[in-house]
Amino acid sequence: MLDHAREIKSMKLYTHIDRVHNELAELGKTPSDLLKTEEISHFDQLHYHGTGAVDEAIKMIGLDQQSRVLEIGSGFGGPARHIAAHTGARVTALELQPDQNTLASELTQRCGLSNLVDHACGDFLCHPWGDAEFDCIVSWLAIFHISDRQKLLQISSGLLPTNGLFFTEDMYCRQQMSDVEAEELEKGMYTGYMPDLDTYVDDFLQAGFEILRCDEMSDNWTDFTTDRLNDYRSNRERHVRVHDESTFLAMEDFYDLVNRHFRSGKLGGVRLLARKL
Ligand SMILES: C[S@@+](CC[C@H](N)C(=O)[O-])C[C@H]1O[C@@H](n2cnc3c(N)ncnc32)[C@H](O)[C@@H]1O
Repeated sequence: MLDHAREIKSMKLYTHIDRVHNELAELGKTPSDLLKTEEISHFDQLHYHGTGAVDEAIKMIGLDQQSRVLEIGSGFGGPARHIAAHTGARVTALELQPDQNTLASELTQRCGLSNLVDHACGDFLCHPWGDAEFDCIVSWLAIFHISDRQKLLQISSGLLPTNGLFFTEDMYCRQQMSDVEAEELEKGMYTGYMPDLDTYVDDFLQAGFEILRCDEMSDNWTDFTTDRLNDYRSNRERHVRVHDESTFLAMEDFYDLVNRHFRSGKLGGVRLLARKL
């Protein structure tokens, strides 16, 4: 786990995470102030379309107060807190990187949601799951980091009852990449598993799931990442003031990398809902 947690920092989205505290200071919060999830949702969601995308998942899956949810790769904890705050569901939020997990726990506690969201730090593939069971597993832009998809689906299946659901928004390879492109993504996005879409779906079928929904998101996410990059650049002065030059450059570089690969037509995005048979 330590190797992955260290190596994944080649992805610049995961460096300079003190930007969250800078944003809190910009909101005028002192370190002991309590927070509302909606006050921080514009910087605690590390996927596309923020809490709007999480709301769509809540609806699609049918999450409510009775649901026991596991999020794989929970980042700063934004989606887990949003689910808990808006449905009353219990969420276990598993995150590989210790610094992000510590930050996520702090934010959850300050939002008064520690009774519903349990943060855990570890690699999903090695975590001691014991006899844990969840009604559903959710994951935003995380499982493409994990190279062993077969093992990931086998463990997931063991954590779900029959009819349990697996929801993900994730990356896939839309068109064959050159070695240089694939290497750039391996470093800049820490890609571990990037099959084509047919293989992506087939892996779930082979692991004993049926596909309830499979939405192609590539064009939508190309537009999203274009707007994100342009918006970030046009607010350079603000970002350098709130953070610093090196944070701005790291984020700009990351946003540019992702957008270039979406625009090439080779990086793809998918939203998938599967049910364990
Ligand atoms: C792009 S972030 C998304 C975070 C969160 N899902 C969100 O949308 O705000 C993906 C996260 O997955 C985590 N991750 C990657 N591999 C993991 C693993 N094997 N086990 C647990 N978490 C992992 C990364 O550390 C990263 O924080």
